Amino acid sequence: MSNILGIRNYDYVEFYVGSAKMSAFWYASTLGMKITGYIGPETGTKDRVSYYLSQNNLKIVLTSAVQPSCYEVLSFVNKHGDGVKRWAVEVDDVEKAFRYATQHGAVMVKRPEMIKNKHGHVTEAAIRLYDDTELVYINRDHFDHIFKPGYCVPPQKIHIEYEDTGIVGIDHIVGNVRENEMNLWADYFNKTMSFETFVDFKAGDIGTKYSALLSKVVRSSDSVIRNPINEPYPAEKKSQIEEYIEQYHGSGVQHIALQTPDIIKTVEALRKNGMEFLDVPDTYYDMLRNRKDIRIRENIDDLQRLRILCDKESTGYLLQLFTKPIGDRPTFFFEFIQREGAEGFGKGNFQALFESIELDQKLRGNLDKEPIEVMPPC
Ligand code: FE2
Repeated sequence: MSNILGIRNYDYVEFYVGSAKMSAFWYASTLGMKITGYIGPETGTKDRVSYYLSQNNLKIVLTSAVQPSCYEVLSFVNKHGDGVKRWAVEVDDVEKAFRYATQHGAVMVKRPEMIKNKHGHVTEAAIRLYDDTELVYINRDHFDHIFKPGYCVPPQKIHIEYEDTGIVGIDHIVGNVRENEMNLWADYFNKTMSFETFVDFKAGDIGTKYSALLSKVVRSSDSVIRNPINEPYPAEKKSQIEEYIEQYHGSGVQHIALQTPDIIKTVEALRKNGMEFLDVPDTYYDMLRNRKDIRIRENIDDLQRLRILCDKESTGYLLQLFTKPIGDRPTFFFEFIQREGAEGFGKGNFQALFESIELDQKLRGNLDKEPIEVMPPC
């Protein structure tokens, strides 16, 4: 089933970070990505640097300021820490997608613009998303060089050793928004992108005895773009979403799920590359072995060794695993997911996941509603 905006797939995600060069080394060595593009002073851009990394369909841009005049990047990082500034979808016709979105209430950020050089041209436009986040429409049909016009081969001689992780692209991108904003943003997607609400987790569906959240998943009609939106829900203690909103200082992208056809190979490689994951107790796998309704090809001993989670749906199953927050603030993290016929988001794993996150929140002193004194471990 096609979608009305002519959306083909996810394109790139751009992070604003404190140091793009150092982040690029971390993304390359940990996620197993190649650093293939660069803009900066050497290429004529004086106030910022951007590194472009790719692996199969996954495209990531890391940008940081190198001059005080680069206020846009500096103010973002100052307020939010390292985080997702914009994510892009590839569309058949940028003008058409942008016109549809703005006619249906989208806040415009950038009108369609053609960026060109001797290798061809790329067209881009952007609309507002959450607080300081943007959603970009891009078409690169007439460009066949490094990422976008302006990007060159990185001047640094970069040689990074890593295990091949086999990541193929983006599965979904999740936003965290303030209390009572979830419906507003779900409606925004549904009206401006002609999306539909696919899943609606209500009070009591997701949570532990301490913390809870509400979540809606909106998606394009052909399901190539899936965008869960979470908001905090009142509970005895502070939820992970409240912690995110406090530490990020607003609404933004919480996690990006990356697809793999072989999660055992992927997680094995990621662990060797130094990625840090949320822990899962052994009791989870005892329960998994006892579940008669789950038949999976993978060996449960392998899942237990690598701490991979499994969830069953009527149409199939999925395997998934979540990293710890990748930066200094407990905000953005990655998920890795292998879908075997399942279209959901691992609802059966929420309990184990939340308990694991709460343990980390407690260590940070962010689980209780009132700040508590954290006893340093050393
Ligand atoms: Fe997810």
